[in-house]
Amino acid sequence: MGNSTIYSKIIYTIHTEIELSRWIAKYPAGKVFLVTEETVDKVWVQKSDAFFQSAGIKKVVILSGENNKKIDSVLKIWEFLSKNGGDRKSLVINIGGGMLTDLGGFAASTFKRGCDFLNVPTTLLSQVDASVGGKTGINFNGLKNEIGTFQEPVAVIINTNYLTTIDAENLKSGFAEIIKHGLIHNPKHLADCKNFDLNKIEYQALQQLISDSVGVKSWFVSNDPTEKGIRKALNFGHTVGHAFESFAMQMQTPIQHGYAVAYGMIAELYLSAKKCGFPVSEMDELARWLIQLYGKFETEESQFEALFELMTHDKKNESGRINFTLLTVVGKIAIDQHCEKALIFEALSYYRNL
Ligand SMILES: NC(=O)c1ccc[n+]([C@@H]2O[C@H](COP(=O)([O-])OP(=O)(O)OC[C@H]3O[C@@H](n4cnc5c(N)ncnc54)[C@H](O)[C@@H]3O)[C@@H](O)[C@H]2O)c1
Ligand SMILES: [Zn+2]
Repeated sequence: MGNSTIYSKIIYTIHTEIELSRWIAKYPAGKVFLVTEETVDKVWVQKSDAFFQSAGIKKVVILSGENNKKIDSVLKIWEFLSKNGGDRKSLVINIGGGMLTDLGGFAASTFKRGCDFLNVPTTLLSQVDASVGGKTGINFNGLKNEIGTFQEPVAVIINTNYLTTIDAENLKSGFAEIIKHGLIHNPKHLADCKNFDLNKIEYQALQQLISDSVGVKSWFVSNDPTEKGIRKALNFGHTVGHAFESFAMQMQTPIQHGYAVAYGMIAELYLSAKKCGFPVSEMDELARWLIQLYGKFETEESQFEALFELMTHDKKNESGRINFTLLTVVGKIAIDQHCEKALIFEALSYYRNL
């Protein structure tokens, strides 16, 4: 840690098995293990059962869904590794969305004080976000990502074929993080997002967007692996976004993470305009575009207090102040921006009245 390099090798391919073979060959026979989850197993992994069996690789299948990103699932993976002769020289292959790569990464990074793992992310969100950056973890005590480690996978294999079976909402959710990467670092990347048609997906163009987006995330992570400074850029849209996400969950009308981030980015663009001089006309134009893509989460003014309260619990706050990452222009960030409650309410009103 602290070294400015991304250790994971990021590989773009439409032939997962060929790439996996190269990595499997680097580890002793019988020391490579496969972790996946039910849905991904049925839709994709079972197609490769013969490949894994012939390589002597055993598989453990976890239940799908965020509520299985928990300690019981970690126990299941540890037990599986332990019973089948896993050791510090082992490789764990995680195939699934962000839930599974966070979980499998955590189990591997703690097993025998840590063995190697390799991620094969199968959702757009996990390809552009969860698979890069070395954060692993599980939810605990009702708190998201409460327990975790920093350990990079030895490799990440990104195959856009997997995205052909995820639903439109899921895809859009991941797309919000791609937009965020454009906003915080790269105007050209943002322009490419605007030109991309989510209703008629062109997978070649999508792969280019994914690799540009991973490039942006890698840049911030390499320069600040443990989030002491500029890596906070990646939190743009997330302070307000997480509040929307938790609020929607409490109201029993959950919204997907990327949608919440899109709504959060609108409010935080407003804060950026007020505090950091972000151009107002561009803020309006971006807000309209995001609303067009993601629709709107309807809120009442009477709910602002509850949303604010949720923001005060954000992990990124320091000494009781709500800390925002804001923008001065597209591509330039300002970290550790403290905003007063009244201004945050104004930003929520701006969003509400759009
Ligand atoms: N480590 C990080 O830096 C980081 C960053 C962002 C998000 N995350 C984590 O990622 C998780 C969210 O990831 P997610 O959105 O990928 O959720 P997910 O892994 O739960 O996948 C979403 C749904 O899609 C299904 N699915 C996955 N791949 C599929 C495929 N190819 N075809 C059909 N269905 C498929 C899953 O079974 C699940 O029902 C959260 O736990 C979040 O905390 C981690
Ligand atoms: Zn996010």
